[in-house]
Amino acid sequence: MTCRLGLNDFRRMKTENERIAMLTAYTAWQARLAEGAGAEMLLVGDSVGMVEHGLPDTLGVTLEMMILHCAAVSRGSEKAFLVGDMPFMSYEVDDREAIRNAGRLLQEGRVQSVKLEGGISRVETIRALVRAGIPVMGHVGLTPQTSIALGGFKVQGKDRAGARRVFEDAMAVAEAGAFALVLECVPALLAKVITERLSIPTIGIGAGLSCDGQVLVLHDVLDFYGAFRPKFVKVYAEGSSTINEGLTRYVNEVKMGLFPAEEHSFKMDPSVLEELE
Ligand code: KIV
Repeated sequence: MTCRLGLNDFRRMKTENERIAMLTAYTAWQARLAEGAGAEMLLVGDSVGMVEHGLPDTLGVTLEMMILHCAAVSRGSEKAFLVGDMPFMSYEVDDREAIRNAGRLLQEGRVQSVKLEGGISRVETIRALVRAGIPVMGHVGLTPQTSIALGGFKVQGKDRAGARRVFEDAMAVAEAGAFALVLECVPALLAKVITERLSIPTIGIGAGLSCDGQVLVLHDVLDFYGAFRPKFVKVYAEGSSTINEGLTRYVNEVKMGLFPAEEHSFKMDPSVLEELE
């Protein structure tokens, strides 16, 4: 049995200025590929609702969906540290429910930690989870589950009041005991100040180069998600066109009678068939 990376590894990486590479993964094959590429952390994000289930946003993602995807990612990986997203309304009602739901992600989904969105307003929940022995990754800045309240998918913390809000949220989440913090869609300068101030690692997505690590959605990195592409995304492989090319060749070969060829077919002794005639 290979040992997974743990919280001490990420503390050490922060201290030694070693950058953390994180990717989302939702299935066993994606986990295998992301881990194989060297990602130390895999996030089973609630973005699964949009990129795998075709939902318009993350609000429709349920705990059962998350458990299923977490378990698949756990089976497909050996070494990476796994973070399971707590879906909308799985931690807001009260702390007991949050502990029960986070516990299911660990027990049934076999992830090592959970992520939840929100800053000062989530401090008590983070404390309760940490007290229960559940490692928590925070997530501040643009929080997609509350994007309606934030006025849409907008960069957070650009003006004085906004910057103070994101800064105080980040400090509060760390103070509450989170082991790491996602900073989403905040100006690079603000992310730098927060990263320098915190002793826990920051993981940026649209937050510039000064964060201790970076996370991107796998489907964005591989250009699998056609709906829209945020400014902070960099495409590293033209997945859609490569796959499309392969699938089109398959369809064409079927239509033209070129597939299956002899090497894809099974042989038998023709005399066996005499008995059938
Ligand atoms: O769900 C997700 O993929 C996320 C990342 C964008 C950080 O929360």
